[in-house]
Amino acid sequence: MQDKKLLKVLGGESVFPPPLWMMRQAGRYLPEYRAMREKAGSFLDLCYDPDFAVEVTLQPIRRFGFDAAILFSDILVVPHALGRDLRFVEGEGPRLTPIEVSEIGRLDEAGNFHAHLAPVYETVRRLRAELPEETALIGFCGAPWTVATYMIAGRGTPDQAPSRLFGFREPEALAALLSKLAKVSADYLIRQIDAGADAVQIFDSWAGVLDEASFEAWCVKPVAEIARRVREKHPATPIIGFPRGAGSLYAGYRKSTGVTALGLDWSVPLSQARALQADGAVQGNLDPLRLVAGGRALDEGVDAILETLGGGPLVFNLGHGITPECPIENVERMVRRVRRGSAIA
Ligand code: CP3
Repeated sequence: MQDKKLLKVLGGESVFPPPLWMMRQAGRYLPEYRAMREKAGSFLDLCYDPDFAVEVTLQPIRRFGFDAAILFSDILVVPHALGRDLRFVEGEGPRLTPIEVSEIGRLDEAGNFHAHLAPVYETVRRLRAELPEETALIGFCGAPWTVATYMIAGRGTPDQAPSRLFGFREPEALAALLSKLAKVSADYLIRQIDAGADAVQIFDSWAGVLDEASFEAWCVKPVAEIARRVREKHPATPIIGFPRGAGSLYAGYRKSTGVTALGLDWSVPLSQARALQADGAVQGNLDPLRLVAGGRALDEGVDAILETLGGGPLVFNLGHGITPECPIENVERMVRRVRRGSAIA
């Protein structure tokens, strides 16, 4: 018997009020996160410290009783584990040394990948033991394209121009990099599931900057490879795909990648989201700035999602991560409104 609401919905059941969690739910909008973050070391050290990572993963569960916890880590621990250098600069974001074509074939020469990530697996094991039975634990990785954009540019950019150009000029090199990332990311997810993750999410945050052919080659194909490999080992574990900004290309994504559920960004029209529910669960898709604004903007956003999608398999979430300036009381208001299922009651 499955008593985790999130897993029921990911399995295709309609549950109302829907299960609820938030992308980036452990983070800087929480005073208890900021307090711990201040005494501890660098962000990256925290990702590799199971005591810290377990504690901050649990913080939003204690406060809001979400239906799912998401492992506290970052998508960029994967290139780090492959031997790329990585730093997080306060107030700016990640910095890596841009990878050269000649280095792609030599990634993880030391074969140190899983040893490097052992603290993450330890965090997952401890979390599964500590979380309430009804709370699902979500593991995650970045999709190969999104991770590659940071490896190639060495930082975040507004439109991933360096990586798009790299792919057009050096198609074999990008294909080799994506294929390597797909393989190790699948292994990484398999280990998280072995350690106790109930579901996994693949974040393709930069899927929306690509033309149709590149989306197919650089987003769909590597994610399909991850899903295939994970399924081979763990056929029953749901996989949530989040190709942010995919627009009309969301339509074929579940089928072409084999993911179980679709994470929707806030630009996906609810009528399109409703149509996507015909093939399985959808997750999303409140604009995080409605949550920052609160009041009517928030209530109307929540109600529209519940009204349009609440009759089918829905995981209520934001359309991207919660922002650090978001007031806690607005999160409380959202949780109350979703739990009340106001739109249908
Ligand atoms: O969702 C969660 O609560 C789980 C933890 C999580 C983090 N990052 C923690 C984090 C997850 C799932 C991620 C995913 C991630 N990381 C993505 C994909 C999703 C998305 O947001 O698009 C990407 C692109 C990254 C890379 C990354 N990490 C960037 C660009 C930054 C800097 C920008 C920022 O928001 O600070 C990070 C830092 C980061 N990752 C923080 C947290 C809590 C903030 C670090 C801090 O506390 O100083």
